[in-house]
Amino acid sequence: MKLAVVGGGSTYTPELIDGFARLRGTLPISELVLTDPHEERLELVGGLARRIFARQDHPGVVRTTTDPDAAVADADAVLLQLRVGGQAARQQDESWPLECGCVGQETTGAGGLAKALRTVPVVLDIAERVRRANPDAWIIDFTNPVGIVTRALLEEGHKAVGLCNVAIGLQRKFAGLLGVGPERLRLGHYGLNHLTWEFGVQLAPEGGGAGGRDVLPELLAAHGERLAEDLRLPRPLLDRLGVVPSYYLRYFYSHDAVVRELHDKPSRAAEVAAMEAELLRMYADPELDEKPELLAKRGGAFYSEAAVALAASLLGTQDGGAGVQVVNVRNDGTLPFLPDDAVVEVPAEVSARGVVPLPAPDIDPLYAGLISSVTAYERLALDAALRGGRDRVFSALLSHPLIGQYDRAETLTDRLLAHNKEHLPWL
Ligand code: G6P
Ligand code: MN
Repeated sequence: MKLAVVGGGSTYTPELIDGFARLRGTLPISELVLTDPHEERLELVGGLARRIFARQDHPGVVRTTTDPDAAVADADAVLLQLRVGGQAARQQDESWPLECGCVGQETTGAGGLAKALRTVPVVLDIAERVRRANPDAWIIDFTNPVGIVTRALLEEGHKAVGLCNVAIGLQRKFAGLLGVGPERLRLGHYGLNHLTWEFGVQLAPEGGGAGGRDVLPELLAAHGERLAEDLRLPRPLLDRLGVVPSYYLRYFYSHDAVVRELHDKPSRAAEVAAMEAELLRMYADPELDEKPELLAKRGGAFYSEAAVALAASLLGTQDGGAGVQVVNVRNDGTLPFLPDDAVVEVPAEVSARGVVPLPAPDIDPLYAGLISSVTAYERLALDAALRGGRDRVFSALLSHPLIGQYDRAETLTDRLLAHNKEHLPWL
């Protein structure tokens, strides 16, 4: 089996490689190709990837190339994890919205729109190359903003699934708190990418079999304090809601507090850039043959596990088989209050035949309202990314529930366009 990773020069890649090496029984890779336009980084990361495979006796070959067509040729699955403009562009996305009194974040709000505008055309270009090379290949998209990017891919008819590590991260966290194996927990995880809530946590009986019960109430009762602290949300909010919002809901439920806090500290982009420089120094060491501890300080925990499980199910490899996983997929009635062509993040049955969302419970208007308005924003954001134009950018910003005001949307539109000139060909 051949896998290609686009954006393979990312400092995150060793996390993925470590997962491929550890879980090779689930996903037997014979050839792994990393591609990236930044040759120097690619070689550093590629070298470490080969050493990780060698240390763990992985029989697969790791190749690197700056040519995306060569990378995706004959690939059975292509993972997209690119970042147009690198951390420098992220730094901008986190700065100018903040100067306008809005949250500065790489995927939420105005910064997320800028990222979508830069990214969608590049991802669609790569996807076209994948389809030309092998129309049967699966595209697994980690590229943020995952909801909008996946929607772009699906609207163009690509064989794509969007993936994020928020769900698997919470599943592991809950399992740790409850003292059970993560495979016994199934999350009632619903919403949009980076806008989700855990509405239930089903605990399967020990040793498998039918039955099981929802342990969310006891999880909140016993560990509410710890969860609130980790998610940086007010404890009374968790008690009131009785569900667990993802970390990203903080930007909504505590927006003004987050804005104040962000004013007083270095941006996440700056922290990440410093970590990346250090990581690249480490990767250059020919003695290093495992992922360094420092990588755990990035937000990508468990993303390799999620990727391996998804690829194994989609490609139908031996012990991968079908399984339920949280993915980004076309709505098609799963959340009946949203249009069919929205992309939702929900548990789905994944197999070589494709991705079929499980039936969803009723979603309270308390959540459905926010999900609906962000879905409308995502539609408008995608229109702006595909067709360009100041008016479309303005509409997307005005529609966003964290923006909404005319003068703010105007100022943010000007700032977004001024800061992204070199990445938006239609400007
Ligand atoms: C989580 C999110 C990703 C995001 C990452 C940021 O993993 O699910 O979508 O890219 O956090 O982490 P970073 O270390 O780059 O701030
Ligand atoms: Mn994510």
